[in-house]
Amino acid sequence: MAEDKMKAILVEGGQMQPGSYPMPIRCPNDILVEVKAAGVNRADTLQRQGKYPPPQGASPLLGLEVAGIVAEAGSKVSQWQKGDKVFGLLPGGGYAQYACMHQNMAMPIPEELNFTEAAALPEVFLTAYQALVWLAKVQKGERVLIHAGASGVGTAAIQIAREMEAEVLVTASAEKHPICLELGARHAIDYKKGSFKDEVYRLTDGEGVDVIIDFVAAPYFQDNLSALRKDGRLVMLALLGGVKLPEANLLPILQKRLSIMGSTLRSRSPEYQARLTRELADFMLPRLRDGRIRPVIDKVYPWEKVNEAHAYMEENKSKGKIILSVE
Ligand SMILES: NC(=O)c1ccc[n+]([C@@H]2O[C@H](COP(=O)([O-])OP(=O)(O)OC[C@H]3O[C@@H](n4cnc5c(N)ncnc54)[C@H](OP(=O)(O)O)[C@@H]3O)[C@@H](O)[C@H]2O)c1
Repeated sequence: MAEDKMKAILVEGGQMQPGSYPMPIRCPNDILVEVKAAGVNRADTLQRQGKYPPPQGASPLLGLEVAGIVAEAGSKVSQWQKGDKVFGLLPGGGYAQYACMHQNMAMPIPEELNFTEAAALPEVFLTAYQALVWLAKVQKGERVLIHAGASGVGTAAIQIAREMEAEVLVTASAEKHPICLELGARHAIDYKKGSFKDEVYRLTDGEGVDVIIDFVAAPYFQDNLSALRKDGRLVMLALLGGVKLPEANLLPILQKRLSIMGSTLRSRSPEYQARLTRELADFMLPRLRDGRIRPVIDKVYPWEKVNEAHAYMEENKSKGKIILSVE
């Protein structure tokens, strides 16, 4: 392979296979990371299907998070040098032998973690931290309901909320309850058995919850409004169940002074993402070192088996993260 080319996962007709691709263009503030492991995200599966174009200027290759070794540091890079082990978020381009990462988006891999474990952290912990701390402003002692509790973002959110001394409730498929409880959820609700709202009332003596982190959207909207107590906050992060509401009763929003927020991490400015990364690193790195927080990994696939990895995610069976190991 010529030096200006690298191996990468290429998409053709919705299928992925390893191929040859130009090396990333390095900017003065970037580090070139030799990728050892890359996280799989729903955004990758949507991008593969042509439903989620990468932001302007981003690599068209899939992959939003990696862990690896700094192979080169740009002329304006002050914090990193060749050989450092780093992990972090990317605007794209993670399914490749090399990826360019802005120096402010990289975090040092604690000695206690390997590359696979580190690649399981950035997207889900940044998303969960932003939702719980920056948007919902969760306070000690508050009750937080996390939907899809065993998802990648859900497993991160349970751990962060637990560390903030909030009381955590989750919804998840029944077979995924043990991992949610092990990570610190006090109650796990099987949303397939009946209304989660009724269970929330039962478990909270009719009081409801202060904060809801939601990925399901339309089918949960009305029950989310019902399950929140006064001054409750709903943070919507995905639309897995649908985008359109045939009808809704909006009265609880006024009666209970509710706040409804939405966000996507990828649409945030590089400055915002860098600030979030710095704050998360302060919160997360010491807790990773002493084991209070841990990456939750379901399966690791060699990157040649990336089609299997996407199919596994799309089956909704996974608990925590799916990772590609890059050889
Ligand atoms: N806004 C942001 O900044 C941001 C950032 C990262 C991810 N996301 C989005 O957040 C969502 C979760 O991401 P992830 O990587 O954590 O996902 P994931 O690990 O693949 O987990 C998704 C889980 O959600 C549950 N689920 C799927 N469809 C559902 C439905 N219609 N109703 C109820 N539950 C459903 C399933 O668990 P059960 O078996 O328990 O139902 C599924 O395993 C994705 O849509 C992703 O695109 C948003």
